[in-house]
Amino acid sequence: MYKIVAIQTLAPQTKLIIVHAPEVAEKAQAGQFVILRVDERGERIPLTLVDWKPKNGTIVLIFQEVGVSTKKLGSLNVNEELFDVVGPLGNPSDIKYYGTAVVIGGGVGIAPCLPIATALQKVGNEVISILGARNEKLLILEEEMKRVSTKVHISTDDGSKGHKGFVSDILKSLIEKGNSIDVVYAIGPSVMMRAVAEVTRSHKIKTIVSLNPIMVDGMGMCGACRVSVGGKVKFACVDGPEFDAHQVDFDQLIKRQQAFIAEENLALEHIEKHGGN
Ligand SMILES: Cc1cc2nc3c(=O)[nH]c(=O)nc-3n(C[C@H](O)[C@H](O)[C@H](O)COP(=O)(O)OP(=O)(O)OC[C@H]3O[C@@H](n4cnc5c(N)ncnc54)[C@H](O)[C@@H]3O)c2cc1C
Ligand code: FES
Repeated sequence: MYKIVAIQTLAPQTKLIIVHAPEVAEKAQAGQFVILRVDERGERIPLTLVDWKPKNGTIVLIFQEVGVSTKKLGSLNVNEELFDVVGPLGNPSDIKYYGTAVVIGGGVGIAPCLPIATALQKVGNEVISILGARNEKLLILEEEMKRVSTKVHISTDDGSKGHKGFVSDILKSLIEKGNSIDVVYAIGPSVMMRAVAEVTRSHKIKTIVSLNPIMVDGMGMCGACRVSVGGKVKFACVDGPEFDAHQVDFDQLIKRQQAFIAEENLALEHIEKHGGN
């Protein structure tokens, strides 16, 4: 069993948990994820590995409570156990020396950016980070990102902190000011990743996104996570989750992510009214 050894609330509806999962901690690399179940009947929840300590046998996950399963996960206490944690899954990020790397995180997407920014900085890249959230209260990991970046830019939709607007506006202005950028990593809502891809496309700046389609088995068997990249069908769990942003069909991804919205809302209403599973 996988014991929760610590819990921290980072922002409204956003929690960090440290879980005892020694086999995962031993092999984890930046860009990979786990799929966990809270209990035997629970849905499978993919979450990115934010940090891991092989010596302690622990992993760090950060999640937003958006629906039934993530709310159930958020209701657990320290010393309670998860039913299973499978991973590390997916391909690790292609960490190498590029020169200047801009790492862009939106909302809870800042969490998966942290290990990537850390690893990019470790191999000698200059890391410039752009962090975005709907408002200041929802902004997470600013201090941690500062530690691995030469500069951190902030944007909020409502202007409560930093630039009022979107992360893609800041990226556009960095490019227009003549900053030389060798690679961009962007992780967050699909609309944000699509906007970033559109900014960098005409400048031919290599841009990598981490996709989060609905996943079930995480092993390339069920087909739930299929995405279209460069006109070819790819399974995000085994071929990704990172892909060349300029090749991704974001419109199709967004449509597929919304496929079960009616059922998800019904399930949420049900537990809010009646509690339990
Ligand atoms: C590779 C990967 C890494 C992820 N990493 C993180 C992370 O680090 N932190 C985080 O907060 N979230 C992450 N997510 C998203 C997270 O898995 C979903 O928010 C969660 O599964 C929602 O479940 P729910 O029952 O609470 O919500 P629901 O009400 O069931 O769904 C809410 C929304 O979440 C998405 N979703 C639902 N089920 C799944 C599923 N099985 N797989 C993927 N998306 C789903 C859909 O877009 C849906 O509209 C990641 C997703 C993927 C694929
Ligand atoms: S989640 Fe089943 S194929 Fe990717």
